[in-house]
Amino acid sequence: MRKTLPADFLSLIEKNFPKDFLQRSEATCAQYGDDWSKTLTIDAAAIAFPRSTQEVSKLLALTYEFNLAVVPSGGRTGLAGGASATNGEIVLSLERMNKMGEVDVLGQSLHVEAGAITELVHQHCEAAGLLWPIDFAAKGSSHIGGNLSTNAGGVKVIHYGMSRNWVLGLEVVLPNGEILSLDSALEKNNTGLDLRQLFVGTEGTLGIITAAILKLTRPPESLQSFFFAVKDTASVFQLFLEARKGPFKLMAFECLSEACLKLVETKMSLLSPLQTRGGAYVLLEAEVAPSDAVREAQEKWLEQLFTKEIVLDGTMSQSPREARNYWAIREGVPEALFMAGYVHKNDISVSVSKLEGFITELDTLFAAEYKGIETYTFGHIGDGNLHLNALRPDHANLESFQKHCHTVDEKLFQLVKKYSGSISAEHGIGLLKKDFLHFSRSEREIEIFRGIKKLLDPKNLLNPGKIIDPL
Ligand code: MLT
Ligand code: ZN
Repeated sequence: MRKTLPADFLSLIEKNFPKDFLQRSEATCAQYGDDWSKTLTIDAAAIAFPRSTQEVSKLLALTYEFNLAVVPSGGRTGLAGGASATNGEIVLSLERMNKMGEVDVLGQSLHVEAGAITELVHQHCEAAGLLWPIDFAAKGSSHIGGNLSTNAGGVKVIHYGMSRNWVLGLEVVLPNGEILSLDSALEKNNTGLDLRQLFVGTEGTLGIITAAILKLTRPPESLQSFFFAVKDTASVFQLFLEARKGPFKLMAFECLSEACLKLVETKMSLLSPLQTRGGAYVLLEAEVAPSDAVREAQEKWLEQLFTKEIVLDGTMSQSPREARNYWAIREGVPEALFMAGYVHKNDISVSVSKLEGFITELDTLFAAEYKGIETYTFGHIGDGNLHLNALRPDHANLESFQKHCHTVDEKLFQLVKKYSGSISAEHGIGLLKKDFLHFSRSEREIEIFRGIKKLLDPKNLLNPGKIIDPL
C-alpha cells in the first residue's frame, strides 16, 4: 500500500501550487519512482513536477516542515538505484525545468535548467559551433541535472574527463528550501572551498541541482574511428600503448568482448564491420589533422599494428556513417543486455597501468564463480573502467541468482580493493552499492561524508539512504 501524505500538507499543495503539480496515480508513481536499474521494489507516495526553482524551493520548505522525504529525479537512466523511491518518498521530477539559454560564444558557456536533455544540449551547442563534451549512450534520455548529480562519465572521459570538469556554476536548493546560487561562472575563483563540487557526484543527497552554467569547448576538427579485432586482453593493452603514441589525439578507447559482439549482433541485428573474429574488439576514436602528411603517418601507424601482430584485423571509417555504425555496436551493448534478460551489473575501475593484471585475476574469479552463467565485459578501457555483467540463465530463480551474484561481488570488490580501484567508476553508489562503499572509501572518509550530510540535511530528508546511512 502506498503511503498516505498528511491532509494538511496536501491542502497546502492544493492552495499554493498549480493543479498538475503533484500527481499520485499508481502508474505515474511506478514510472517516475525508479531508474534503469529496475532491481528494487518501488514505493513512491507522489510525484512533484515543478516548473521553476522557486517551486522546488517552496516544495522543499513544506516537506521540511512536515518531515517528508524527497527523492530528486532526472532522466532516470541511473543504474545504481540513486533515483529510486523505495520508502514512500515524494519524487521530485525536474523534467519540466528544461529551458536552455543562449550559448555564450565569447565565454564558451551555457545556462541550462536541470531537466534539459543531454542530447538536446549537444544540439543546441553544436548550432553555435561549440560542444559540451560529456557523451554516453543514454544521452537521449539523461538530464543535465542528473549528469552533474552523478558526475556522469561516458565514452570520451579519456580526453575530456568527467562531468565535474565541465560545469562553471550551479543553482542548488537545499533540503530546507533555501536557494544557493553558486553561479558566478568564473573559471578562476580561488576563494576557498569550491562548494559547487560538493553537489557534483553526491547523487542529490545534499541539495537539488536546479540549474547549471556549463563550460563548453570547440568540437574536434576531424574525427577518425577504427574498429579492431584482437586476440586477447594482452593485445588490447599493446594496442592501447600504440594508440597513446599514435599520430593523433586519442578521444576514445573502448573495448568489448566477443560475447558482447555476438549479443549485439543477435539482439540488435547489427553486423561487425570485420570478417575476422577475435577474443575482444576495440573501438578507437581519434582527432586527426586533415593533412596528407598526417594521413600518411596514420596509415603507417595502422600498418605496423599488423606487422607487429598486435591486431588480427582492423578497419578505419571512410565516412561519418561508418563511424556511427562502429559506435552503434559499442553503445548497443547495454541495450542488447537489457533485451537478453535480467543482468547483474558492476562498474569498476582500476588505474589503467594495473588493469591488465586485474583482468587476469578477474577472469579466474569469474570462471570459478560464474559457472554456467554468461558474463559480458565491456567498457572504457582507456579510463581503466570495466562494465561487468552477469546474465541470469533462463532456468535460474531470480532471488537465488541475485544472492549468488552478491557473494561473487564480495570477492570482486576484494580484488578491486587489492588493486586500489573503485567499486563504482561512473554509475554511482545509490542504494545498490551502498553496502560495499567501504571497499573503496575509508571509515574516516565515510564519517566525513556523514558529517557534511548532517550539516546540510540535518533531518535526513533528501534522497535518504543513498550512498550512506546517517550517523
Ligand atoms: C555504458 O558505458 O554503455 C554505460 O555505462 C552503460 C552500462 O554500463 O550499462
Ligand atoms: Zn559506461
